[in-house]
Amino acid sequence: MMSHSSFVKAFREAAPYIHYLHGKTIVLAVSSHVLRSECFPSLARDIALLNSLGVRMVIVHGVRAFLEEYGMAGEYWHGHRITDKQSMSEIKRICGSVRLDIEAALGMGFLHTPAHTAKLSVAGGNFISAQPLGVLEGVDMQLTGQVRKIDVEAITRSLNHNQLVLISPVGHSLGGITYNLPLPETATAVALALHAEKLVFLSQSSGICDADGKVLLNLSHTDAQKILQQYPQHEAIERIVPLAQEALKGGVHRVQIINGTQDGSLLDELFTRSGVGTALAYSSFMQIRKALASDIPELMRLIEPLVREGILLPRNKDDLEKHIQDFFVAEYDDLIVGCAALKTFENSKMGEISCLAVSPNMRRHGYGDLLLEYIEDYAQKHGITHLLALTTRTADWFIERGFDTAEASILPQERLLQYQDNKRNSKVFVKSLA
Ligand SMILES: CC(C)(COP(=O)(O)OP(=O)(O)OC[C@H]1O[C@@H](n2cnc3c(N)ncnc32)[C@H](O)[C@@H]1OP(=O)(O)O)[C@@H](O)C(=O)NCCC(=O)NCCS
Repeated sequence: MMSHSSFVKAFREAAPYIHYLHGKTIVLAVSSHVLRSECFPSLARDIALLNSLGVRMVIVHGVRAFLEEYGMAGEYWHGHRITDKQSMSEIKRICGSVRLDIEAALGMGFLHTPAHTAKLSVAGGNFISAQPLGVLEGVDMQLTGQVRKIDVEAITRSLNHNQLVLISPVGHSLGGITYNLPLPETATAVALALHAEKLVFLSQSSGICDADGKVLLNLSHTDAQKILQQYPQHEAIERIVPLAQEALKGGVHRVQIINGTQDGSLLDELFTRSGVGTALAYSSFMQIRKALASDIPELMRLIEPLVREGILLPRNKDDLEKHIQDFFVAEYDDLIVGCAALKTFENSKMGEISCLAVSPNMRRHGYGDLLLEYIEDYAQKHGITHLLALTTRTADWFIERGFDTAEASILPQERLLQYQDNKRNSKVFVKSLA
């Protein structure tokens, strides 16, 4: 059983993600191997839980493992099944039965969620129209198709009614022919059309690996490209990565590749900082940027405990609103993990780094250093020659980063008056940026 302290730690770590994912759309590409695994009932429970937390869920499922089970391995061209008439009629049958199984598992899962008194409603239908893939390099792909159009309006309507949308890998053409659609491409098209926050591939592979086979947790889309060139990966991964890149370029925030046959992997990936599979983002996971007015509630949460301890100068919401243009935030995976402000003074080449804070569970990861470096660089580019830091308890931290002790008398007049007024008796440090 989880100890009290690990529970508290895990809950605190998950809380910002719960808040962040509320109202966001997640598209899950669930491979047929995952559907057939022992873990599927618990995955369904986790999906139902996400739905009950207000996450807009779309599932696109696969069929390959079921066909193989019926001895219909079939022929493939560059990873795409060549679907003949016989396998197409089997695929239709499988889709019907898989849909029912998924619905049943989700219904069971919903019983264990906080919203169990309500009913989990699953929406399905002809959301996707298809067209034939045609003849590729002389190979007739027969009834293998590609997405022609996605009925975004109908899917959005279902999601707006808190329904979970379940999509099978088939689509009909305008001429009434049914085509088999490849799972990764279909899920990507759906995520792009819905402007999803996340696209999650749940398969048997744990993600993109380095030369030693260790899963790389966070990659920018250019890092992923380099890794693919350096180390050969599993065939499925090599197919998924270009699709992931397409999704990221098209505005999907994160693409995650996780092992869906591992119990709890989806929750681990979505609600912990490190995750369990590979998460891909368009740019780096960590960034420092200017703060926006919409960051104020997060900034208050970060600063308030430190103000109460007397470490930071008191600042209320109005102060932050008035001075938000002086603030910078450090973000990790879209969550604010630190902040600092650069105060400037009229007719002075001195600036002051103030309100430097890193959230307690993210300390000692170098964010403090990064914020300081960023502020120094920004200050220098804006003509500031000396950076001040006033602190009651963090003296050594600044000294170790090249600051020297100074007398309060070096402070610009306006800051000196404030210093004398607030009686905090902070120590004064200065660093030359030359
Ligand atoms: C100071 C602070 C911003 C550093 O952030 P961080 O991301 O942990 O910093 P880094 O990872 O770059 O550096 C961590 C190092 O700083 C040291 N450090 C942290 N707080 C310190 C302090 N008050 N005095 C001296 N060193 C300190 C850590 O021990 C660690 O050193 P180590 O790796 O040798 O053990 C963070 O600890 C914080 O938010 N503290 C509370 C607010 C605060 O004091 N702000 C400054 C107000 S002027």
